Amino acid sequence: MHQRPEGRLSAEFGPFSGRVWLNSAHQGPLPRCAIPFVTDALERKLEPHRIDDDSFVAVPARLKAALSRLLSTPVEEIILGNSTSYGLHLLANGIPLQADDEVLLAEGDFPATILPWCGLQARGVRVRFVPPGEASISRASIEPLLTRRTRVVCLSWVNSFTGVAIDLEAIGELCRSHQIWFVVNGSQAVGTRALDLSRAPVDAIVACGFKWLCGPYGTGFCWVRSALLDQLEYNQRYWLPELWRTEHAFSYRPGGSPVIGAERYDVFCTANFLNVAPWTAAIEHLLDVGIERIQTHNDGLAATFLDALDRKRFRVVSPSGPEQRSSIVAFSSVEPGNNPHIHRQLAQAGIDIALRRGDLRVSPHLFNGAADIAALLGALGESR
Ligand SMILES: Cc1ncc(COP(=O)(O)O)c(C=O)c1O
Repeated sequence: MHQRPEGRLSAEFGPFSGRVWLNSAHQGPLPRCAIPFVTDALERKLEPHRIDDDSFVAVPARLKAALSRLLSTPVEEIILGNSTSYGLHLLANGIPLQADDEVLLAEGDFPATILPWCGLQARGVRVRFVPPGEASISRASIEPLLTRRTRVVCLSWVNSFTGVAIDLEAIGELCRSHQIWFVVNGSQAVGTRALDLSRAPVDAIVACGFKWLCGPYGTGFCWVRSALLDQLEYNQRYWLPELWRTEHAFSYRPGGSPVIGAERYDVFCTANFLNVAPWTAAIEHLLDVGIERIQTHNDGLAATFLDALDRKRFRVVSPSGPEQRSSIVAFSSVEPGNNPHIHRQLAQAGIDIALRRGDLRVSPHLFNGAADIAALLGALGESR
């Protein structure tokens, strides 16, 4: 075990070849404690006699157990995916929507939150948007847009480009009072913001696993409240868990109803050993550290950066109010067109942040510390 450098919550990450990784909103690094899980999966695949039958069930079951602790929800309700888009497509294609029914989205939201619903327009479903310029999507900005045909509101919990965090509680209560399903894309939040789905007024949440949850690319989950799950009309049944739950033999009769609940919607080849096992280790590590601690740490680093940023040279894109802030800070040079140059200069100085929709974006996570923020501020001070 490496020494935990001062001010960081975990010593399990890096050392990033000496660089500073402040870009978990793009890719969260895998913790080193996940390496034995990768090695184990690899060794078994090199010698397949070591892949025992039970592992096809046990490996995803352990991941679901970790996700269930993370989300405070029963393990049976977790659906494993391979992305954010997987779960959102399941919901967009599965929620029974008729012609003239409305889905309300936010203009400027990340495309993964928008695209799954757009295909429904071909059958007359109306896709409407909270207009741009609504810097913060709030109960007040949404309420006037609801009609008696609104069936779904789907929003990103934290906006990838601005770092704005919506108020799940207020918007969820609004949806509930109008009997509208509230679907949330949590990809820029789950892992850096605490969530208790046993209490939150959310009907479904999806997230990818490769950002704040520090898993490999090609990971994700979906959770759907049972009242909504029961209504999904989606033609998907996966032979493997069904057989496993029944006679455990390769002789399933056609027809009949599914013997399982949410897991019928798991991504096929659910026991994707090389991905699932290390992602499980990453989530278990985050849980050991504690999501509330991680949130305080990450938001604290983001606030430190914001407080020190030279306002004569940089404009802050992210919200000023702490209640709308998140672990993501977007900012921009006041000199038009200078951001790509600054982004390159930072990369040359060994500091990795993102350039998104023309703005610069910083996203610290549990392995970052005050020294990383100081290095970024120092490099920005020298950038011209
Ligand atoms: C809000 C949000 N959703 C989803 C994604 C990625 O989508 P997927 O997991 O489907 O690749 C990103 C990636 O940047 C994102 O910021």
